[in-house]
Amino acid sequence: MQTITVIKGDGIGPSIVEATLRILDKAGCDFHYQYVDAGLAAMQNYGELLPATTLDAIANNKITLKGPLTTPIGDGFTSINVTLRKKFNLYANVRPVKSFTGTKARYDNIDILTIRENTQGMYSGHGQKISADGEIAEATSIISRESSANIVEFAFETARREGRKKVTALHKANILKSTSGLFLKTARAVAEQYPEIEFNEMIIDNACMQLVMNPHQFDVIVTTNLFGDIISDLCAGLVGGLGMAPGANIGHDCAIFEAVHGSAPDIAGKNLANPTSVILAAIQMLRYMEMHVIADRILLALTDAIASGDRKTRDLGGNAGTDQFTQAIIDRL
Ligand code: NAI
Ligand code: MG
Repeated sequence: MQTITVIKGDGIGPSIVEATLRILDKAGCDFHYQYVDAGLAAMQNYGELLPATTLDAIANNKITLKGPLTTPIGDGFTSINVTLRKKFNLYANVRPVKSFTGTKARYDNIDILTIRENTQGMYSGHGQKISADGEIAEATSIISRESSANIVEFAFETARREGRKKVTALHKANILKSTSGLFLKTARAVAEQYPEIEFNEMIIDNACMQLVMNPHQFDVIVTTNLFGDIISDLCAGLVGGLGMAPGANIGHDCAIFEAVHGSAPDIAGKNLANPTSVILAAIQMLRYMEMHVIADRILLALTDAIASGDRKTRDLGGNAGTDQFTQAIIDRL
């Protein structure tokens, strides 16, 4: 039996992860779950944000389903998510958005897959300094040719596997000549190995405008870490908000599936959170495990529950709580 590491997370995390596990069980998954803590929950129970037992579970079980974690703001706290991604070399962050009937999506028929480089760039954590007088701050962005090639290859391979037609590299090589420049040059070279898939490139600021005005021109997006972080929230906005946006962090032998959003302290504990982000992350997880039949079954129930609309969460335009909406999905399984 497959053991899956489960981190319920902080804020809205436990409610949307538990909702997802109920759905997985009802859909016929026969998983064993190992529950471990990270983030604020771990801080309270173990005095550290990422205890060794958590890291061991992630490494041993290879597959993790994770709720959002609160990173305390302030000195000495590096983001737990950034740490996990670097520690397990989860180099590809796969963030699909699709419009569902019955949401506040701005457009119909959106289907954009953002592939974000997950370990380098402005989030590499290198050279973070503040001068003694507190006047000057600096950080180093690091981009390697190898990591750029890996992420662009990952994007093209995913496009090929999913029958997608186009890969767009987003960059700012006109200004960030060394870092974004190396990424773009590498992307062009990799694209030549995939002549059957259209390749184009776009400067990141224009891409933001294009995504809002004419999103249907995009299919697969591949980009560096910071741009990918921002652009994937923008894409979530196109399909009705962060509650609809899942993400997979994929490495060579380990993967963590999660929502794109954070712990949403403004709505935590109020039974208001939309669990769809984590449910879609679980669907990504099932596909990663080649369990396509169960993945399709859950997607169908979810799609129908949102479309029928009698029990959906507030962000989707309904007035049901997390529990009722989850039950609406379970009733369809
Ligand atoms: P957030 O993503 O938690 O919330 C942004 C807005 O979206 C809020 O208005 C929230 O209510 C709404 N929202 C988010 N998820 C929702 C859902 N499932 N259903 C309905 N509405 C939803 O971003 P924020 O407030 O900037 O960050 C809060 C905390 O989360 C911070 O400590 C941050 O570090 C952490 N964070 C963690 C992430 C992770 O674990 N992967 C990712 C992003 C932030
Ligand atoms: Mg983000």
